[in-house]
Amino acid sequence: MEIVSTIAAARERRSADREAGRSVALVPTMGYLHEGHLSLVRRAREIGDSVWVSVFVNPAQFGPGEDLERYPRDLERDAALLEAEGVDVVFAPPAEDMYPRPSVVTIRFSGLEDRLCGATRPGHFSGVGLVVAKLFNIVDPAVAVFGQKDAQQALLIRRLAAELDFPVQIEVSPTVREADGLAMSSRNVYLSAAERQAAPVLHRALVAAHDAVAEGENDPLVVEGQMREMIEAEPLASLEYAVCVGLEDLERPSRIDRTVLLATAVRFGSTRLIDNLLVER
Ligand code: PAF
Repeated sequence: MEIVSTIAAARERRSADREAGRSVALVPTMGYLHEGHLSLVRRAREIGDSVWVSVFVNPAQFGPGEDLERYPRDLERDAALLEAEGVDVVFAPPAEDMYPRPSVVTIRFSGLEDRLCGATRPGHFSGVGLVVAKLFNIVDPAVAVFGQKDAQQALLIRRLAAELDFPVQIEVSPTVREADGLAMSSRNVYLSAAERQAAPVLHRALVAAHDAVAEGENDPLVVEGQMREMIEAEPLASLEYAVCVGLEDLERPSRIDRTVLLATAVRFGSTRLIDNLLVER
């Protein structure tokens, strides 16, 4: 496994893959890897000849007062995990290489970036779009793998790739969960013991709502109310949103007559967790 830490070195390594006729599957990450990331790596391994993982805590997607400084980082540990997964290249650039000067280019996702997580994280998805576009240009992957846990991000990246004509296939892999249902996230390490015990309420509320829809409930307001009630009953949980929306527009349908996304964001102290489930119709 090679660790490349500059854009120039990444381009050089990419040329070697190209000359050898190897297709590249990229897994973009912000590091501090867990089993969820490793499942994306395994999926990438199935699809690409050469598996690249980027490890970059992207300052552009953190707002003022968010957890950029305290976001957990451990490249040595990440590299050991990735080597054991048979990854070919880790691209871990410093911020000065990715952003040598303040960026004047902004990516906007009109009508989609202000919904769900974007409502309380203004500019977040612009920052994600910018770094993902840069990674696609640097690594030129045939396939890029993202997690379903970040459902809104996955939707926006699909749109980014399609509308800016990046020749990349976007793969979305299922959420990996702890035994009690909590979705794996690098931010779970911030939870106190009591918060960690309370956190599976996200998944429980989503499953209950999923089952209600699967059993015929077709009023999205009823479904949202049910999720809200369950989450608000947990004293340590502070609900940000619990919604039932269409997959493409992230808007609440007047009735549930097609596949919907049930999604929630909840704060436990200063830790913000998200999760979602799809209900197929
Ligand atoms: O999902 C993440 O970890 C990040 O948003 C991503 C896609 C790596 C961009 O920084």
